[in-house]
Amino acid sequence: MNKLQGKVAIITGGASGIGEATAHQFATHGARAIVIADVQDEKGQRVAASIGSNICTYIHCDVSDEEQVKNLVDSTVKAHGSLDIIFSNAGIGRATLTCDQTVLDMDLSAYDKLMAVSARGMAACVKHAGKAMVEGHVRGSIVCTASIAASVSSENFVDYIMSKHAVLGLVRCASLKLGAYGIRVNCVSPGPIGTPLLKE
Ligand SMILES: NC(=O)c1ccc[n+]([C@@H]2O[C@H](COP(=O)([O-])OP(=O)(O)OC[C@H]3O[C@@H](n4cnc5c(N)ncnc54)[C@H](O)[C@@H]3O)[C@@H](O)[C@H]2O)c1
Repeated sequence: MNKLQGKVAIITGGASGIGEATAHQFATHGARAIVIADVQDEKGQRVAASIGSNICTYIHCDVSDEEQVKNLVDSTVKAHGSLDIIFSNAGIGRATLTCDQTVLDMDLSAYDKLMAVSARGMAACVKHAGKAMVEGHVRGSIVCTASIAASVSSENFVDYIMSKHAVLGLVRCASLKLGAYGIRVNCVSPGPIGTPLLKE
């Protein structure tokens, strides 16, 4: 039960769903500090409090804003001395309610919004967490949430599927670069899970 004994971890999208469950698992496995980063402040603070303020803290961070991601990583290292793990998990399922994002009706503004969070946000998290681990000589672990959508196609949700293919490409490239420093980069690719993202 103590696989993460003494480790410092960031979880993006930790206020809900997969990220929330992961925060509890990290605590169960002995993490020393867990920083939940999300845009749902009340929910994030509730999750942190339920784990215990001595272990878990919440920080507002919109992963589509690189400066906020940099601040998240820098403030975590400053507060806890190092960063061992980032679970880059924040994502959105769709940025439009009015169309199904087939290639023929794709709303490209919605596409931009979704990619800003689910692809660009992942890249910002891997970049800044990777830099902190390299600079701190930490043989850490970076895990991104991709999806089965990273490996399949569909007529609908083209933007979501594109964003998850991008996450897979990011992880493949980053693992080559960061592996040389002893940093592992992986993704998990869940199938459907009954979280708010799926239900909405
Ligand atoms: N639920 C599924 O079926 C499923 C399947 C495969 C992959 N995924 C992926 O799992 C990840 C987590 O999703 P979930 O199902 O737990 O959904 P969820 O909606 O419960 O959790 C996603 C969290 O990300 C946060 N978030 C959204 N935009 C953000 C931003 N700009 N900055 C910071 N945080 C932000 C949300 O506030 C929310 O707390 C996502 O990347 C999703 O694509 C989900």
